[in-house]
Amino acid sequence: MDNRPIIKRIKSGIPGFDELIQGGFPENTTILVSGSTGTGKTTFGAQFVYMGAKEYGEPGVFVTLEERAKDLRREAKSFGWDFEKYEKEGLIAIVDGVSSTVGLPSEERFALEDRFNVDNFLRYVYKVVKQINAKRLVIDSVPSLAFRLEEEKKIREVLLKLNTILLEMGVTTILTTEAPDPAAGRISRYGMEEYISRGVVILDLQEKNIELKRYLLIRKMRETKHSMRKYPFEITDHGIVVYPSGEIY
Ligand SMILES: Nc1ncnc2c1ncn2[C@@H]1O[C@H](COP(=O)(O)OP(=O)(O)O)[C@@H](O)[C@H]1O
Ligand SMILES: [Mg+2]
Repeated sequence: MDNRPIIKRIKSGIPGFDELIQGGFPENTTILVSGSTGTGKTTFGAQFVYMGAKEYGEPGVFVTLEERAKDLRREAKSFGWDFEKYEKEGLIAIVDGVSSTVGLPSEERFALEDRFNVDNFLRYVYKVVKQINAKRLVIDSVPSLAFRLEEEKKIREVLLKLNTILLEMGVTTILTTEAPDPAAGRISRYGMEEYISRGVVILDLQEKNIELKRYLLIRKMRETKHSMRKYPFEITDHGIVVYPSGEIY
């Protein structure tokens, strides 16, 4: 008899990716997606939330701290993703964490105030997650969240508290973070994101025949058998596609 617990998997919505991690992210975990700028972190998170709603009927919250909600919606459209449709249906909530910082009143239903403290932020995220009964959450990104806090060094406290709250709520979360060269070992900016994350996915660009190619590495995924090789991926007209056979180029 095999007594190992059956782990419920949450589909990433990224073609080719789930088969690398036994069918999806273990439910109710926090996953860190790390990479330098332009590697596809925002796209990865947006696809996770969008496909969650569209393909699996799972509500999701996207907290955007680097670009305005309306810019995110517009960029998503270039992949053929209509966020507004699912926002209207109550399956997606975008929390605008940017407009107020540039002194603009947000026209958004969900928006963060200009400066906030740890508890305000957590309370707000909790409220929105509850409101749409979210199963998925993306926070894009940890460094920009740290920057927005009244005290930047409180980011550790936020991540720890957030992690506890999310585990309790049963949400599967993607945190994005920027690291200059994550493949070389330094995965996160604050050195603590990977500590609270039960999975780490590294997005990378590498030069090959005078061209930059995209690669993805699953550095860590608890409760999951996965290889430690780099897989090529592309950002296509329909979003991210991973090539598990290891070949495209
Ligand atoms: N519609 C699209 N089709 C193909 N590639 C795209 C499209 N939109 C963006 N990209 C690619 O995705 C990159 C940005 O990815 P993004 O997720 O914003 O990265 P990050 O958040 O890591 O900075 C762009 O630099 C571009 O190469
Ligand atoms: Mg980004």
